[in-house]
This record gives sequence, structure tokens and C-alpha cells, in this order.
Amino acid sequence: MILVINFGGQYSQLITRLVRKCGVYCEIIPFSRLHLPLNSSIRGIILSGGPSSVYEPNAPDIDENIFALNIPILGICYGAQLIAKKFGGHISKSKAGEYGKTEIILEKHSKLFQNITEKTCFMSHSDQIEQLPSEFKITAKTANSPIAAAENTFRNFYLVQFHPEVEHTPCGEKIIQNFLHNICKLTNNWEMPSFKEQKTKEIRQMIGDNKAICAISGGVDSCVAAVLVHNVIGKKLTCILIDHGLMRKDEVKNICKTLEVLGLNIICINATKRFLARLSGIYDPEQKRKIIGEEFIRVFEEEAARIGDIKFLIQGTIYPDIVESGLSGASHIIKSHHNVGGLPADLKLSICEPLKELFKDEVRNLGKELNIPDEIISRQPFPGPGLAIRIIGKITPKKLKLVRETDVILSEEIIKSGLKNEIWQYFTCLLDTKSVGVTGDYRTYGFVVVVRAITSSNAMTCDWAKLPTELLNTISTRIVNEVPGINRVVYDITSKPPGTIEWE
Ligand code: XMP
Repeated sequence: MILVINFGGQYSQLITRLVRKCGVYCEIIPFSRLHLPLNSSIRGIILSGGPSSVYEPNAPDIDENIFALNIPILGICYGAQLIAKKFGGHISKSKAGEYGKTEIILEKHSKLFQNITEKTCFMSHSDQIEQLPSEFKITAKTANSPIAAAENTFRNFYLVQFHPEVEHTPCGEKIIQNFLHNICKLTNNWEMPSFKEQKTKEIRQMIGDNKAICAISGGVDSCVAAVLVHNVIGKKLTCILIDHGLMRKDEVKNICKTLEVLGLNIICINATKRFLARLSGIYDPEQKRKIIGEEFIRVFEEEAARIGDIKFLIQGTIYPDIVESGLSGASHIIKSHHNVGGLPADLKLSICEPLKELFKDEVRNLGKELNIPDEIISRQPFPGPGLAIRIIGKITPKKLKLVRETDVILSEEIIKSGLKNEIWQYFTCLLDTKSVGVTGDYRTYGFVVVVRAITSSNAMTCDWAKLPTELLNTISTRIVNEVPGINRVVYDITSKPPGTIEWE
């Protein structure tokens, strides 16, 4: 496998994803969690970019013994600067930072750039390598960076100032492939059929003859996790769908109907009252998430006790949930994903998270491998905390009704427009703000609703969807006319980063 060491760069997860896309298993860890000796299966290391300067006090650092392991290393941006500094090079502030697309000019044959034809790359740096260590040779430059790439072939160290992992570097995938195959000499080992087999074995070993319950939400992650485990332990798995009162309109009914075909043993629990009671008066998004996560687990524990003899709780946690919840230790906590961040310390069930190494699109591929119908696999994501994080501030039954009704209109209009499959996710979000309007001859003072529609390939980054203005107009008119209490509709035109997909 390949190990990505994360120095806090915003694209670090994309490196991991790209390595896997190239067919090699890859994991990411924060620089602060790196401990030698390394797992013997690591055949290549990638040092990610990051926001710091290498000379800053407390700049992220690395155990230098890693350079003596005889493992090929690719340093990207900050990672490249760190390697250069460690070997006696000099880093300086560039006169003008370099951000955006630029052309790389190859200076010398390099195994890293073999068969590269498209030479656009994406730069995002304010520091640059000014002087290379003596044993390193320049392999590429750009108009603003005399050292855009360099290498020490004796040690098998490769440095790139630009970001091969982002889509704006079209040759990035080829560069990563070259690193994996030409330099680390790895053959492809990461594909869904073998992941399925491996996981099936692990689940059998872990759960054995025990009984398990699975938290099922109707979303693709929990469904795939449930089917994977069901294939191993059959009727010993009970799937539990908790109606926390924060679902979209008719969602629970629709999910039960859709999931029938999977042959799972599903029970649905109406826990609306207890969730809404605990959330009453709560404003803070993190607190909402923690409460919902905790309450979920309490309901599951009670249900487990009722069924009797349950040892495991299966969850559809996926890799970005873990990284974004800060549990990989790498990144700042962005949001406590309810199925990761909210687990109570005194949990009485053992957790089994069979998808925790996978990205969303990999989960979908696994779902196909498991013959789960397309209708389920292509469902748009719905967050575990549900509408609680689509109502800014305090949650009330009235606000739940408003967000549900507006969401139905948005959904109807997007489906009618034929754009459904081009949008990764769309929903409405109710603000905690009222605004003045006029309907007929009367002044209104109503809530503001946000329409959010985004395109993405993995939810780690997203663009706002460029919906036709006619469609936006219809959505806005229908919402204001049909949902009393709303008198203003706004469209969210924020990408991720700097925004996130959900508002809380
Ligand atoms: P953000 O808002 O973090 O969302 O950009 C990324 C994707 O994750 C979904 N999401 C969640 N899914 N539990 C989940 O299962 C959660 O707590 C949660 N929070 C966000 C979100 O809908 C988007 O698809």
C-alpha cells in the first residue's frame, strides 16, 4: 500500500482517492500520528501539501528516520519543501504567490513524468524551493517557479511543487500512476471484488455466530453495509430504521418500500418524541449533532436489549466521515458526523464499520458488486442528523414542516427539469432569519429558505450547480406561493471549500 502523510493540505484526501483510483490501496494519516517502524506493507510514501511554512515555529515536521527506510517518497508542495529543507536545500517566500493553472516545462527525463503530454498543472503556494539540496536535480519548471519539480533518483525521492491530485492538473493521474508503477514498482491490488471478499472474511471473523443490529437510514452507505453483513450472518442481522422525526416528507414510508427488495430483516422505530424533546431549545450545530448521535445509540442499545443477545452495531461510516470528524487526527474537526463523533463513551455494543476505508464512489461500486438495485445506489446522500442540520438554530415542529414542504417543491421541480442525475445533492435549508415582504397589498414577515444544489464527485469538494434561471424562478415562485410562512428564497452559490455542503 501507499501511505499519505497529511500536513493539513486541503487536497490531501484527494491524493488518497487518486492513488486508489489508479488501482493501489492507500491510507492517509496525520503527520503527528506517524510512528516508526512503518507497517511492512507500505511500498511508497506521499507527503502532502499543507498551509504552513517550513521555517515557521512549530511547523509540521516528520521523523527523519523515514528517509532512511529505502521507500520511494513523493513530496507534494509543503511535502516537497520539507524534504528539500531536510537535505540542506533552502525555501523562500516566492515574490508573488502562484495560484491556479500554469504550464510545466519538463527539463529532464524523469520516471515521474514518463508519457506526459498534457502539461497544465495546478499551483497553490506562497513558499517555494529556492535552492535544492546538492544531490537533487531539477526536472520541471514553470514561468514563476524555477524549481517546479525535482528528484533524487538514487534515494528515490521526487518533489513536485504543484498538485497532481486535483482535477485542474489533467496529467496528475498519469504522474501518480508513474509513481506507483515505475517508481514504487507496485502492481494494481485495489478493486472492489477483492475488497468484497476480504471484508466478508473480516466480518465473519469479527462477528462469527453473534447477533448484530445495523443502523439503517435508507442512504447508500448504511444499505451497502447492511447487505455486506447480511450476506455473512443472514437472519442474525436486524436492521433498525429510526425515525428521529428529522426525515424528509414521507421518507420513512418510501425507504421501507424501497428496501423491501433487499430481503433484510428491518424494523422501524418511531422515536420522534424523544429526539425532538432532547433537541428542544438547542441552537449550536455541534451540540445538535452530538445529541442526535448519542440518542441514536441509546435507541439502538434499548432495541438490542429488547431483541436480546446482540453484540455488534453495524454502521455505514465511510472514510471522509472519519477524516472530517477529526478522528484521523489529521484535520481540524469540521463537523462531528453523527455516526462517528457522537458515540457515547460507555457504549455497550461493539462497533463494526465495514466501509470505513471507502470513499462514497467506492461504496457505490461495492453496492453494484453486491447487486443492490440502482435506485438505492444512486440515492442522493442524506445526512444522519437529517433536517436538524438544515434548520439553522432551534428546531421546532413548525420549522420542520416548512423545510419539508419546501424540499418537496425543490425535488419535484428538479425531477421535472430532467437535471436530477447531473446534481449530486439538492435540498432546502431554513434560516433563522425573517425578512419583510409584500404579498398582494399586505406586508409579510416570513422565514427565508435557502435552495442548495451542488455538483461533486465525492462530497469532499463541490461546486454549486448552475441551475437554469427559469428553473430557479419556478422553484422560488412555487415556494413563496405554496408554503405559508416563507416569503423569501435565496440560492446558495458557495463551493466547498470554502463552504461545506450542509449548512451546519
Ligand atoms: P458536508 O456538509 O460535510 O457534507 O460538506 C458532505 C456530505 O456528507 C453528508 N453529511 C453527513 N452524512 N452523517 C452523514 O451520514 C452526517 O453527520 C453528515 N453530515 C453531512 C452531506 O449531506 C454531504 O453529502
